Order: sequence, then C-alpha cells, then structure tokens
Amino acid sequence: MAAKNLPPVWNKIAKHAMMPETNHDERARYNFLASLNKHLAHVSQGNKMAYEKRVEPAFKAKNGRDIASVEELQEAISKDAHYQIWSSLRRSTMEMRQQAGRSIVLRQAEELRDKAEEFNKGKSTLVLDPNCKVPEYLLAVDNHLMPGSYHTELIEGDVTPAANYDSGIFVTTAGLLGRYNDGGGKAITSWVKKTYPDFAPKRILDIGCGMGHNVLPIAKAFPNAEVIAIDTGAPMLRYAHARALDLGITNVTFMQMDAAKTIFENESFDWIQSTMFFHETGGKSIYTIMEEVYRLLKPGGLTLHIEQPQYTEDMSLFEKFIRDWDALNNSEPYWSKMHDIEPIDLMQASGFRKEDFMQIGAKAENDLDDGTQKADEPEDHGRSPIWNVFGAIKN
Ligand SMILES: C[S@@+](CC[C@H](N)C(=O)[O-])C[C@H]1O[C@@H](n2cnc3c(N)ncnc32)[C@H](O)[C@@H]1O
Repeated sequence: MAAKNLPPVWNKIAKHAMMPETNHDERARYNFLASLNKHLAHVSQGNKMAYEKRVEPAFKAKNGRDIASVEELQEAISKDAHYQIWSSLRRSTMEMRQQAGRSIVLRQAEELRDKAEEFNKGKSTLVLDPNCKVPEYLLAVDNHLMPGSYHTELIEGDVTPAANYDSGIFVTTAGLLGRYNDGGGKAITSWVKKTYPDFAPKRILDIGCGMGHNVLPIAKAFPNAEVIAIDTGAPMLRYAHARALDLGITNVTFMQMDAAKTIFENESFDWIQSTMFFHETGGKSIYTIMEEVYRLLKPGGLTLHIEQPQYTEDMSLFEKFIRDWDALNNSEPYWSKMHDIEPIDLMQASGFRKEDFMQIGAKAENDLDDGTQKADEPEDHGRSPIWNVFGAIKN
C-alpha cells in the first residue's frame, strides 16, 4: 500500500531506453530528496507567519511605516531564523539533487552517448548545427543550479545534461509531472482538442523543446502533423531524438536553432508552442522571440505558452517575494522579469491583436497520482504544476 502523503517513488517513472541506470543508493537518494522537497513546502508555511508576526512588526517599529517593496522584504526577512533555515535547506536540496543526478550520469556518460548514437545514426529527423550560437543569457548562468546548464559537452556527442534533467526533474517536482514528466504537454493537448475540435495542424513548432518532455504528447495526438522541435543545446536534442524514437514517436524533427532567429519561412506553422521556456530567456530576448513567433505563424494559426503564474495587481507583497525566491537563490535570474511582464503587452508588442489574446490556467495531467496525496497540500511556490498559459490566434 502506498504511504500516505509521500511523493511517489522514483521507480514509478517510465524507463525508456535512454533513461540512465541507477543503483539502490542512487534511487534512495532521489527518493529522500523528493520527500525533503515536499516537506519543505510545509516548512515554507512558517515564512508567512514569520513575516506577519515578527518581520513586518519589527520593520514598522523601526521605520514607522510598512515594508514597501519586495527588495525591502527580502532584506528584512533574511535575518529571520525560520526563513534562514527554510531557505538554506531549499537551496541545499537543489544542490544535492543536481549532484545526485550528475553522479548518476557521469559514471555512464560513454554508454549513454553510445546508446543515443545508435538511435540517431543516419536519421534525417535530428539536425545539429555546430554553428548555432548558444545565447549569452544561457551561457551566463547554470540554470536552476544545473552544472554546465543545457549546452555543455564534457565528451564528444555528450547527452549527460539531458540525462541528468530527465532522471532528476522528478525530485524537484516531487513526481507531480507524471511518469514521462509530460503533464504540461498532455494538459495543453487535451485543452486544444476540447476547445478546437476541428483544428488539424499540418505543421507544429515547439520552441526551447529541451529533451522533448512536453512536445511528445502533442506529436502523439496529431500523428499526421509535421512537428519541429528546436533548442540551442545539442546534448538535449541528441537525447530527445533518441528518447522519442524509443517511445515510438517518429513525426518530430529535432533541430539545433536559436528561437530568436530561425531559418523557417514567414507564416509556415499552424501551431507554435512553448513550455516552461520564456522564464529562462533573458529580458530583451523574450520580445525578440515573440516577434519571431508572430512572423512564423500562419494567419488563423494558434500559439500557446505555458509559463509561471504572472504577478497580478492584487497579489500581496509576501506572495511576490516568495514566488521570486528561485530568481535570487536558485539560479533562475530571468524568472523575475517574466513575472513582471504582462503577457498581453508582450504579445501586442510582437504584432498580435489585443482582441485575439487568450489566457487560461493549466494543471499537469499526472498519471502518477494514485489518490494518496492530500488535496490541501500547501503550494510549493513557483514549482507547482499549475501554470498560466497565454497565447493567441493570429488574425
Ligand atoms: C526549461 S527547458 C524547456 C523544457 C521543455 N520545453 C519541456 O517541455 O520539457 C528550456 C530550454 O530552452 C532552451 N533555450 C533557451 N533559449 C533558447 C533559444 N533562444 N532558442 C532555442 N532554445 C532555447 C534551453 O537550451 C533549454 O533546453
């Protein structure tokens, strides 16, 4: 019988041919870290109490006024013992998750590379471009503390960044994205099928596809569509392509390309999708990439972007502060910028009409949910599988 209110165990995630091998201790480490992550969402509840009962009154007593900005709140709460413990545990959990994943994949880097090569050899559906430049904003940080981020190659033909990401994302999300970590892609596919039952896209583009978690449910749901998935990281694409073939999905071409300047013709796609992508792109690039989306989309075409929940005017200062923790402490520096942008302004600036803008909420479809999780679990701010989806139909 499943233990009540613990995350599912790592063993339950789907094992395709590219998934790294793990031994007992490595799985135990992943399971411990997933549970610790989930527990820390409970510990985080004390931060609000610390703010209301200690931090805010002490600030007011000293300054004769309320805390007025997220920056002031950050400074004031940083001296509170409860916040310090939670914050350092959360940071350490992410560091440990990255090191746990890295030690798993580095010891089998050659075997993983060879497996990917076996799948990828001679296939026209993987197009790598050695001249593709990784954008400066990606080179500048190790995204969510992942050493070497998405692009670094330690051996020729390396796939370890993707193998680490694939095996360990379960830990960060405590298993809430499903067996294939594709709960976002599944949710958006269901929404599109239900909302536009006659939509039959011929060409679909996924930008910043990573190792393909969320583009595959789309490709599977529209088997007659030509799907192109682009990313600047070669290790991600090698792994994504091999994984897709092993899972029997053959209608996706993975291409190494910068989403800000693609090689595709004007108005050549019926659907352009991104999932958890924009919050990892640097400030100005968000606009350049959305302009490219507008250029590539056919009139009548659909574009949708699954993102972090945006800040709203009625959101409390504390809520903004806690949602921004990852930006300052988890190597997600562009996350704040995305929170601040109004999606409607971004889309209008890129050419879309205000009246064509749409915004919906989406929750991951989780085939790992066996009903043992409590419905009233506290939210793990910014890491919960509940997203803001914005987009438009181009007219
Ligand atoms: C969080 S991952 C995306 C996850 C993926 N969409 C999924 O569904 O699992 C962000 C990805 O965007 C890629 N990326 C960032 N900027 C890019 C750009 N300008 N063009 C193409 N890919 C980019 C990174 O290399 C990384 O693989």
